[in-house]
Amino acid sequence: MIVPTKPLFEHSYGKYAVGAYNINNAEQVMGLFRGNLESSAPFILQISKGARSYTDKRLLEAMIRAGDEIFPDAVFAVHLDHGDEKTCLDCIESGFYTSVMIDASAEPFDENVAITRRVVEAAHARGISVEAELGQLGGVEEHVTVAEEKAHLTDPEEAVKFIELTGCDSLACAIGTSHGAYKFSGTQGLHFEIITAIQEKLPRFPLVMHGSSSVPQDEVKRINAAGGKLKGAKGVSEDEISKAARMGVCKVNIDTDGRLVWCRVHRESFRDDPENFDLRPPGKIFMAEYAKYIAHKNRVLGSAGRLEEARAFVKGRS
Ligand code: G3H
Ligand code: 13P
Ligand code: ZN
Repeated sequence: MIVPTKPLFEHSYGKYAVGAYNINNAEQVMGLFRGNLESSAPFILQISKGARSYTDKRLLEAMIRAGDEIFPDAVFAVHLDHGDEKTCLDCIESGFYTSVMIDASAEPFDENVAITRRVVEAAHARGISVEAELGQLGGVEEHVTVAEEKAHLTDPEEAVKFIELTGCDSLACAIGTSHGAYKFSGTQGLHFEIITAIQEKLPRFPLVMHGSSSVPQDEVKRINAAGGKLKGAKGVSEDEISKAARMGVCKVNIDTDGRLVWCRVHRESFRDDPENFDLRPPGKIFMAEYAKYIAHKNRVLGSAGRLEEARAFVKGRS
């Protein structure tokens, strides 16, 4: 059942976070549905601009529709990840997406507001929610001074102004994470004080955490043992993710961890069976391993076991 993000966030707020997982191909779609059902969790399936053009957006959308048919018990939203204005409008007009993210965070504040406002107007006219971003995610190096780091993080005062001016429905904040497999070079962690400060000013407003892969060290070791060269890869600690999930972070974005599972499975599979040239054996292992990863992550987020209460809540709101 494809559902809007708004009631999912109302239900999860302060109790758990909904996992937002990026997908690109059929094996990821299968693993994602299986993992969420195995752990009884509602979820957000998200598609980036790059994923829409990797094969063809119509193929990806058709796979999601098929997933909904194959797994009729699933409860999930369909979201555009990191859209520009043109892609957001395309997704809004398609009628398939339940929410879009407009990412104009690289623009100056006023321009970010203007672009986001236009997308919000178009989306709300069709009953679609909008996630916007304020602040800059980036790799945190140990040599970066506190002042330099703070300059990229979301300013809570500005966030409140931004939300009021744009009318966006959720906000991606920069609280110390970054995209990819190399997030921290030392013992840095999340800036919970930013979450708290925004919540104090705007209670119950849903916040989104990007760059939330934990880059499991076991995966990194296995990839490297099978010929990979991922040196110093490091992600967000799962304890910090669980804490954020109870503080009003309602959506936690994860892509890199899924790619690591894919990489480990395929490297090990071809190393251990060098005569094989068939895509199905590693594909089958990947689907099972990705499902296992998703189920584990949902337990970290607190969304595991929430499927039926979320379904009932969403139905009550429609
Ligand atoms: O935050 C970005 C996501 O990890 C999507 O990555 O643009 O390579 O599909 P992508
Ligand atoms: P990771 O690179 O940490 O998986 O973050 C994904 C993300 O933020 C997608 O928008
Ligand atoms: Zn992101």
